[in-house]
Amino acid sequence: MARFLAVANRKGGVGKSTVAVMLAHASAAWGRKRVLVVDLDTQCNASLMLIGGEGWDKARRAGRTISDYFFDRFEKVAEDESFYVVDGVGDVAHPRAANGRVSVLPGSLMLEDVQGELYLKQAKRGVDPDKVAQEVRNRMKRLIKHFGHDFDYVILDCPPGLSFAALAAIDLADQVVVPFRPDFVSQFALDRAALLIERVETADQLATVPFEDRRYTTLPNYVTGKGRERLLIDQIALDHPMLKSRVPLLDSVARAFDWEEHKKTMAEKFGDALPHLKALHDEVFGAATWLAKAG
Ligand SMILES: Nc1ncnc2c1ncn2[C@@H]1O[C@H](COP(=O)(O)OP(=O)(O)OP(=O)(O)O)[C@@H](O)[C@H]1O
Ligand SMILES: [Mg+2]
Repeated sequence: MARFLAVANRKGGVGKSTVAVMLAHASAAWGRKRVLVVDLDTQCNASLMLIGGEGWDKARRAGRTISDYFFDRFEKVAEDESFYVVDGVGDVAHPRAANGRVSVLPGSLMLEDVQGELYLKQAKRGVDPDKVAQEVRNRMKRLIKHFGHDFDYVILDCPPGLSFAALAAIDLADQVVVPFRPDFVSQFALDRAALLIERVETADQLATVPFEDRRYTTLPNYVTGKGRERLLIDQIALDHPMLKSRVPLLDSVARAFDWEEHKKTMAEKFGDALPHLKALHDEVFGAATWLAKAG
């Protein structure tokens, strides 16, 4: 069974999709892993980064997106999971003989509508609304879990906010990476995310959970090394587990967002971001991290 890694933060534009896709490439290229990226965001950024606009449109027209999968499974006897997965994606070349590969379960503009529809359908049965929400979320969680059989890692690119899909992903994940921008509002967003991930209600309850037992770890992104940034990061590290790796603010990271037809090496794709990505990969997928979390 795969290990499930969610990249999540309620706050938008903190680098969730970027980090999710970079980690997928890194794990396939350097760890020789079979990695599935599940795109849970209606903006479909992870899908665009991995299959480009045309590839995404093709998947959409073929009924091979995450909302097709959820809808089909809730409604009728659906295709095998593998029908929805696009294999060998991304614009990084992997040696033919190597096992490593990246696949994607494409995102969909309709995911929020599908969630609403599933909710209404269940609600019509007259069940208590909180229970209905819980049921939809649990069902989604089980459905995402099915993909674990064919992969070493399943990386869940979460949307900003608290949709059923985001909550299901956070619930399912063995580990959650929470990227953040080192600015003043981030502290609040991280505090909220931590409560949700650790399933506690107050900061006092959270404080009783030792760092090594927490399912999440934070990751400073857009790091410039300037101004009060260091102070903010140090302050956040007092309240939340934090990776030693940093993702600097770099054009090469921004450019990695663009999918190109032409396949390239990791060094060509990531340029001067490569050593930072290597450090991040080793830290996130290092045996010690996973064993500790699995313990
Ligand atoms: N370290 C970085 N350096 C430069 N640009 C970055 C970096 N990280 C992310 N970006 C850019 O910032 C923008 C937002 O990143 P991204 O889409 O990954 O964030 P997100 O958290 O997934 O956003 P959303 O909440 O909308 O899903 C993108 O244009 C991306 O290329
Ligand atoms: Mg995103």
